[in-house]
Amino acid sequence: MIPPAHAPARPTTIAEPSAEEAGIRRRAIRVLLANWTGAYTVPSRTLYPHQWSWDSAFIAIGTARWSPRRARTELLTLFGGQWRDGRVPHIVFNPAVPEDAYFPGPAFWRATAPSGARTSGIVQPPVHALAAWRVHLAEPDRAFLYRIYPRLEAQHRFLRTSRRMSGSELASIVHPWESGMDNSPVWDAPLAKVPAPPMRERRRDLAHVAAGERPTDRDYARYTAIAAAYRDAGYTGRTDFVVEDPLFNALYGAAEAALARIAAVVDADPAPHLRRAEEITQAMLERLWDPSGGIFRARDVRTGEMLPEDSVAGLVPLILPGLPADVADRLVATAVARFGLKDGTLLPSYPPGGAAFEPARYWRGPSWLNTSWLVLEGLRAADPGLAPRLGAQLLRAVHEAGFREYFNPFTGEGHGCDDFGWSAALALDVLADPALRAQYRLDRVPAPLGQLDQQRGGVVEGGDLGDQVLA
Ligand code: SER
Repeated sequence: MIPPAHAPARPTTIAEPSAEEAGIRRRAIRVLLANWTGAYTVPSRTLYPHQWSWDSAFIAIGTARWSPRRARTELLTLFGGQWRDGRVPHIVFNPAVPEDAYFPGPAFWRATAPSGARTSGIVQPPVHALAAWRVHLAEPDRAFLYRIYPRLEAQHRFLRTSRRMSGSELASIVHPWESGMDNSPVWDAPLAKVPAPPMRERRRDLAHVAAGERPTDRDYARYTAIAAAYRDAGYTGRTDFVVEDPLFNALYGAAEAALARIAAVVDADPAPHLRRAEEITQAMLERLWDPSGGIFRARDVRTGEMLPEDSVAGLVPLILPGLPADVADRLVATAVARFGLKDGTLLPSYPPGGAAFEPARYWRGPSWLNTSWLVLEGLRAADPGLAPRLGAQLLRAVHEAGFREYFNPFTGEGHGCDDFGWSAALALDVLADPALRAQYRLDRVPAPLGQLDQQRGGVVEGGDLGDQVLA
């Protein structure tokens, strides 16, 4: 049986958007328009002036809510940078942007895709099949799926053939940048073992964002050293950093389930994808589930040990198809107890009780919209009552602080760059779900208890939203 898509529940009656919600939507679209280059969307005009792999996937999911055509172009452009071995590089460079606008740029990576595009040589979490399916749901387009399916299959083949480094079904990552959560405290232990001479190159990120909100120079020296060694080895084999990450592999499993759905539309066989989705889920349970902590944790493939720290990445497997109910329940309990899910604060990237917690520094504590959105998608099945709470928090963050890159989970203060692509896009996706909007309104306007049921009565689960995004 094909598992349920990670699509929002479809209400049959829709409350009209409030003026405030319509304002968030307008401003989000304005950001996406400003970051649109004609073929894809930059995550940020200042900090990230090229096309980023997992950014583009999240951006496509939200862009599909107002321009499905643009969302299709976004994904197809990214796959234009795909390598012959199937890997989808984490950056596809814009040749019109000067080399010194971003470090490490094309001169560092020295990599060119068959299309001629200059790219990096590492990957990012494979959220693309999920994105392609969501784009198709927003506006069914079989021709698009026919074009993208072989490319997605090749992307997954690369992970299967080149990144199964422990012998399990899980994919390993060979650089912290491949996790998407670069300086997460989870990577501190394996990174501490990486010899890193001081960097000769100049960091460009600090020209745009305060140093206290970005990784340290020591971390950057290590990122640069690992990337240079991988490059010099011809972008194959192991590096000094090889781990199995729960977020990366949860997306890998969910993407296989999405590929099964896509296969069914393009007259291909869904069965191998379903089998792989099951195998990935099983391997996650065997290798990354920590029953005493009630969370998934990363495993260091070089030592065979589980890593001591954990993060929001360990909750993302809530999106895995076929996750046993008792495991899902434990994850929800962990999200509540250690990540403050019910407290009305934003979902932090690292538990606030942890020794390394920093509320404003990149992936060491702040709340990010993409990880919050992934947990929200997982909660739809695991705890439908809690999902709207998280959706409402997400909207509150962007309403109060703007489309910032990340947010202080307690105060909601915005950090990192402004006008950040996936913050705008994922807000659009949340706004398209009336159940989430209804909760946002309940949270915004404290109503006497008697009125709550009446307000909730405006939303009935089970129908089809179609493409009724807000006007
Ligand atoms: N996320 C890394 C950066 O900050 C690399 O993709 O540039």
